[in-house]
Amino acid sequence: MTSPGSTTRVRRSVLAVPGSNPRMIDKAKGLAADEVFLDLEDAVAPAAKADARANIVAALNSGGWGTQIRVVRVNDWSTEYTYADVITVVEGAGSELDAILLPKVIDAGQVRALDLLLTQLEKANGLPVGRIGIEPQIENALGLRNIDAIATASPRVQTLVFGPADFMASINMRTLVVGEQPEGYAPGDAYHHIYMTILLAARAHGLQAIDGPYLAVRDIDGFRRNAARTAALGFDGKWVLHPDQITACNEIFSPRQADYDRAEEILDAYAFHTSLAGGARGAVMLGDEMIDEASAKMAQVIADKGRAAGM
Ligand code: GLV
Ligand code: MG
Repeated sequence: MTSPGSTTRVRRSVLAVPGSNPRMIDKAKGLAADEVFLDLEDAVAPAAKADARANIVAALNSGGWGTQIRVVRVNDWSTEYTYADVITVVEGAGSELDAILLPKVIDAGQVRALDLLLTQLEKANGLPVGRIGIEPQIENALGLRNIDAIATASPRVQTLVFGPADFMASINMRTLVVGEQPEGYAPGDAYHHIYMTILLAARAHGLQAIDGPYLAVRDIDGFRRNAARTAALGFDGKWVLHPDQITACNEIFSPRQADYDRAEEILDAYAFHTSLAGGARGAVMLGDEMIDEASAKMAQVIADKGRAAGM
């Protein structure tokens, strides 16, 4: 089952903002990121978690987010922080929160546990039940192995999010640079299997597939190269860690103008010939190219992404 927010809201750029930094949270409100997630996990030191929760509640309640999807990343269930993260944020600002990003998910039970806690909080606080979504983050081998069960564990699940730094560490990959190939493994793409597993699970279950961060924030060319790979495969978006990465990310995860125009042209031509035939028909010619039901579907994918991005 697909959650209401999952396919209708575009998530090309997902900006990570430390919950411990009110100045950065405030600045994030005016930026062009499609989604902003306020972090309580790795960007926040243990001693700063409680203050960060309070910052996040205040920032959500003070508004000014425009059309941005408002998400909070809580700590994973193996810590002592998760329950208080969720309770504090939902009790304090549940009506202003669109989804919880749950890191280091290992199985469906962890998603169900969050779903149950959210349901109780929504009921107890007079919030509509089921509105707050869940974004499970895949960051280890178990999570990847259990991905179908995780994707279908709750109707709240909207996306599947890759966490490349934790993932590569968890499988002992010999690399220190997130997004770049481990030395000695060429030719080939050490990430390909993981990307495709996440993408296929997302498509199989009607969810969005979101790539994780590129950590060399000053290297925009490196970011572009890295983002272009998952965009080409069909991912919906990627994390950004710095405002400078947002414009590039929105552009890379939108169709190119020429492709969008061509897709609309194919759909118009196919619809025209279909109406002439009084219903579905086989292949037709558009210029020198044959188009049929399948190529019209490919065009529909590009057209949908372009329309969602306001092209
Ligand atoms: C993000 O959380 C990562 O581990 O890459
Ligand atoms: Mg991580």
